[in-house]
Amino acid sequence: PMTTRNLMGQIDGTGNPKASEEDFDRRVFVPASPGKPQEWMEGGSYAVVRRIRMLLDDWEKLPVERQERVIGRRKADGAPLSGGTETTEMDLDKAGPDGRLVIPDNAHARISSPEENGGAAMLRRPFSYHDGITEDGTPDAGLLFICWQADPFRGFVPVQRKLDRGDALSPFLRHEASGVFAVPGGAAEGEYVGQRLLES
Ligand code: HEM
Repeated sequence: PMTTRNLMGQIDGTGNPKASEEDFDRRVFVPASPGKPQEWMEGGSYAVVRRIRMLLDDWEKLPVERQERVIGRRKADGAPLSGGTETTEMDLDKAGPDGRLVIPDNAHARISSPEENGGAAMLRRPFSYHDGITEDGTPDAGLLFICWQADPFRGFVPVQRKLDRGDALSPFLRHEASGVFAVPGGAAEGEYVGQRLLES
């Protein structure tokens, strides 16, 4: 299936862990922890949800070539600036003829990548929202960012901390609200969702 685009026009979701990868379950679903208070979360996942407004008017003023350096990927097809197609791995060490990194050191896709975060990974499944035009005439629109992981302290948290320190995308975003949700696993036949929590 094709990766979808967000309201900034970028292909968004390329770097997600894939269900076919051997460590997918370990990254996304909570493992068994017999006898621990959170035992009931086995097979569930933690969802971090953030309503992130996009400052779309400012973004659209940037030439496409600069928009691409903000992310580190091409806008048209999502390929890394280091070359290839959407599915080619980013070459984070590649330098251009001027000696500068082709994927800039503050590019969003670089600083959020598992390689730069001790392997931290999350499954992102965002939704775009557009709630009309605000009083100052700017769009009240953006991304309902949702990411799933076995442990937010080893997925979302380290990556967000790093983004806070210098993501080239930050000047074009305004974080408005957030929450973390514990989502129990699916129910087997004869069970109901959350049964192990409610009846423990
Ligand atoms: C409105 C806000 C955001 C936008 C528009 C955005 C956009 C993008 C785009 C275009 C990519 C590159 C394509 C891809 O791999 O999916 C990307 C990658 C990524 N983003 Fe974001 N992002 C946003 C917020 C966040 C936040 C809040 C986090 C986590 C704290 C995050 C984590 C990631 C991760 C982990 C990757 C994949 C890096 C990789 O595997 O190489 N993003 N994002």
